Amino acid sequence: MILYFSGTGNSLAVARHIAKATDETVMPLTEAVRMDLTAEKRIGLVFPSYDFNAPPAVRNLVPRLRLDPKAYVFVVIPCGAQAGNAIWTVRRLLREKGIELAYSHKIRVPDNSAIVFGRNPNDQKWKFTRFAGRLDTITADIRNGRRKLHFAWFSPLAWIMGTERMEQWMLRTFRPAVNETQCVGCGTCARVCPVRNITVDEKAAIGPHCTACLACLHACPHQAIMVGEKTAPKAHQYRHPGVKLTDLTR
Ligand SMILES: Cc1cc2nc3c(=O)[nH]c(=O)nc-3n(C[C@H](O)[C@H](O)[C@H](O)COP(=O)(O)O)c2cc1C
Ligand code: SF4
Ligand code: SF4
Repeated sequence: MILYFSGTGNSLAVARHIAKATDETVMPLTEAVRMDLTAEKRIGLVFPSYDFNAPPAVRNLVPRLRLDPKAYVFVVIPCGAQAGNAIWTVRRLLREKGIELAYSHKIRVPDNSAIVFGRNPNDQKWKFTRFAGRLDTITADIRNGRRKLHFAWFSPLAWIMGTERMEQWMLRTFRPAVNETQCVGCGTCARVCPVRNITVDEKAAIGPHCTACLACLHACPHQAIMVGEKTAPKAHQYRHPGVKLTDLTR
């Protein structure tokens, strides 16, 4: 079973790729926490890195998983460039449950946070071709039950960015807001929010449990979600090309 957390589809696409080659099924991490997975002999965790760490939602969900301590557990992180402390963090969370992480790797994909800095994540689709071989190697490793942790090299930047204070700053910087003039109340943002943090009456309203995934910003058909008081153009909205909007909606 492969458990994924995904805002814009990169992690879902990577989870599906590995699942196809290993004859596994995929399931959102948010659903998996409600299930007893102790019969599963192989568990994958596929999620992005945020701010050089695992997303806050993933760090909340992993301790709640019910897993067999003897299962082969692997982590794959589809990220723009740097997984930072994400693998260390999840290894520690699993260890606290008596589970030893068997395999981990990052894979580079388009950086969906580029939109916040006025850049177009769609310009990074070259990474799919450049790193296709790497993804196949990771998949083969997992199929063969390889045991090896590929950590990021220690980076002072990752360490600084991973501190509580920097993370709070990042969450504030990336916190989305609704442009009420542009919002038509269609509800797409609420359906893609993986942590159910958006309600829609006549207009969308964003709650206090944002994990900064940017799914709402990228999916809004009216470009009505802002970060830093700015909306982003339609051309900068990103979703993995192999993933449909309905694959990400509840
Ligand atoms: C809030 C936020 C912070 C991010 N921080 C990093 C980072 O520190 N390093 C990195 O390589 N990519 C970073 N990214 C890019 C994502 O890891 C990357 O685009 C990922 O594939 C998104 O996965 P998804 O499409 O499954 O949601 C960040 C993205 C977001 C939304
Ligand atoms: S997706 Fe956009 S337009 Fe639709 S409810 Fe959300 S913010 Fe409003
Ligand atoms: S409110 Fe938007 S950015 Fe925050 S968790 Fe939900 S979809 Fe992601």
